[in-house]
Amino acid sequence: MSGRKETGEHFSVIRSSLSTEFGRLVGAAKFSSAPHRKAEAMSHLPAQASASEGSWSGRSVLVTGASGFVGSWLTERLLGCGADVSIILGHWHPESPLVDRGTIARVSVHVGTVTDVEFLSSALQKDAIDTVFHLAATALEGAAYQNPYGTFETNTRGTYSLLEACRLIGGVNRIVIASSDKAYGKASALPYIEDMPLAGRNPYDASKSCADLISLSYAHSYGLPVAIGRFGNIYGGGDLNWSRLIPNTVRRLYAGQRPVHRVSQNGEYSRDFLHVSDAVDAYLAMASSLRSSASYGQAYNFASGDESTIEEVIREISDLMNAGHVAPEIVYSPHAEIQNQQLSIEKAKVLLQWHPSHSLRSGLESSVDWYVSYLSKRASGKDPQGEPSARRINAVRENFAH
Ligand SMILES: NC(=O)c1ccc[n+]([C@@H]2O[C@H](COP(=O)([O-])OP(=O)(O)OC[C@H]3O[C@@H](n4cnc5c(N)ncnc54)[C@H](O)[C@@H]3O)[C@@H](O)[C@H]2O)c1
Repeated sequence: MSGRKETGEHFSVIRSSLSTEFGRLVGAAKFSSAPHRKAEAMSHLPAQASASEGSWSGRSVLVTGASGFVGSWLTERLLGCGADVSIILGHWHPESPLVDRGTIARVSVHVGTVTDVEFLSSALQKDAIDTVFHLAATALEGAAYQNPYGTFETNTRGTYSLLEACRLIGGVNRIVIASSDKAYGKASALPYIEDMPLAGRNPYDASKSCADLISLSYAHSYGLPVAIGRFGNIYGGGDLNWSRLIPNTVRRLYAGQRPVHRVSQNGEYSRDFLHVSDAVDAYLAMASSLRSSASYGQAYNFASGDESTIEEVIREISDLMNAGHVAPEIVYSPHAEIQNQQLSIEKAKVLLQWHPSHSLRSGLESSVDWYVSYLSKRASGKDPQGEPSARRINAVRENFAH
């Protein structure tokens, strides 16, 4: 059986189960082109001042990966700016912020896979899409390592399928691609700068190097209006990928377990972290830059510009949860990963006037608040009482077995 056939069958099963399940969950969700959708205020999201936000009103925007962590934040921001949002829905999780907060009812939903050019072409045409944000991916290093074939299918073929659909259909004015600092691979010197070679080695890293290069090729060979964002580690409330450092650390402390401190045989990992709302600003800034053809085919780094060790992040979270006395459990990574990562963000600062607005501490504070509320609500079925900072501290006091 070919990969394509398998994927199609998989998604037709999802499509039929979704239409009944979503009906129950969100009532008014639209599975075809929706008329103009008026945005509501996003009171739970921090207000972000972005010069480009006014220009989204009434614009038709397609987001792939919208049921994922970053995609759900981006979708909510776009709706808040008045855009008409369509999404490609591959998989879904009932607790995804997209579903949980009812956002799904306010977008036009196309159920299918990003590896299907015909399906993507039809979605682009049907909703007369002006701007595409391509975020769909196998986005976890560990999952990618376990399933290299599926990872290359989604991340690499998914990207050229989307770009090919845009090329064939014409009329898409802005295409923004989610890449990663992992696309650089292990560099001989840090910080990464945008003109360094892309040399990922692990399946996830290599799939991102390939997708990034393919995107550059579509911009340079066919004049497609493509911008590429190479992001450091994005974190924030709503990320339900529990194997990631920050969700995992908060959840373990909340449950009275020691945090897991992952190290390699060569020692401590370090990463460059970015709060998700700063990442959303970056996506909007890249899209806005594509008003000028001089920006086609540009790649930009986005992160804090500073590296933090895994130990430092665990310490910050433990401190926020009043659990500084809890010693982390050291665990060795099952396979080699890039040891140290740090990004230069000068290009985005100068060309896009983009700046991160969260320090690691302030970003972690709001993230921990979100997870503690989420976990408390799950445990009791009710919203927790009291100030967020008190809830953070009480959560550990009540749950940690000393
Ligand atoms: N989160 C980070 O730290 C980070 C850092 C750098 C880059 N990125 C990139 O940003 C993007 C979003 O990351 P995330 O953390 O939100 O990931 P996520 O795992 O939370 O979401 C991935 C999304 O892709 C969708 N998807 C997967 N396979 C699909 C398919 N075949 N067809 C259609 N949809 C499919 C999933 O349903 C989900 O909505 C990814 O491209 C990722 O590589 C993320």
